Amino acid sequence: MENLKHDIKTVLITREQIAKRVREMGQQITKDYAGKEIVLVGILKGAMPFLCDLMREIDLPVILDTMVVSSYGDATTSSGLVKIKKDLDSDIRGRHVIVVEDIIDTGITMAALTPILEKRGAASVELAIFLDKRERREKEVNVKYIGYEIPDKFIVGYGCDYAQKYRNLPEICELDNKVFAQAK
Ligand code: PRP
Ligand code: MN
Ligand code: MG
Repeated sequence: MENLKHDIKTVLITREQIAKRVREMGQQITKDYAGKEIVLVGILKGAMPFLCDLMREIDLPVILDTMVVSSYGDATTSSGLVKIKKDLDSDIRGRHVIVVEDIIDTGITMAALTPILEKRGAASVELAIFLDKRERREKEVNVKYIGYEIPDKFIVGYGCDYAQKYRNLPEICELDNKVFAQAK
């Protein structure tokens, strides 16, 4: 097995850029929710690194929770439904919820999940998403906190996977074409 760095073509966003942007996002959230308690809901698995970094940049009481969801939607069947594979542990009634995601692509997952959380009686539901592939959007979603808008390229790292791998890369990277060639 080779080291991960041999599979990378380009680093698009460095660790330093990530850290700086996450800090800014955390400071903005701290300002916007002053005097309030927040429930941060990380969507596993992709959100893990961003969730861990973001929560430590928020200087307010935070309740941490996670969900596992899978979207049924695709270009042809786009039902806009999500299946909840692991639900929240906490009751969010009357609480301020921020859903934390590594990336938003078609928007189908978030467009389906947000109303579910709102219907449970949350005081507010907002989204904090590190990467926004806006060109790919199929469902309009209101994202309050965005780390970076990125072009429609296949990226990995900082939680984003290719075939479940590369989530542990500390940068946002483009994979070398040989990785895809080997997979065929
Ligand atoms: C990826 C990503 C987002 C979702 C975005 O998760 O982490 O959760 O897809 O796609 P959408 O905007 O088109 O709905 P994935 O389902 O691959 O699971 P993972 O987080 O475990 O990788
Ligand atoms: Mn995900
Ligand atoms: Mg994935």
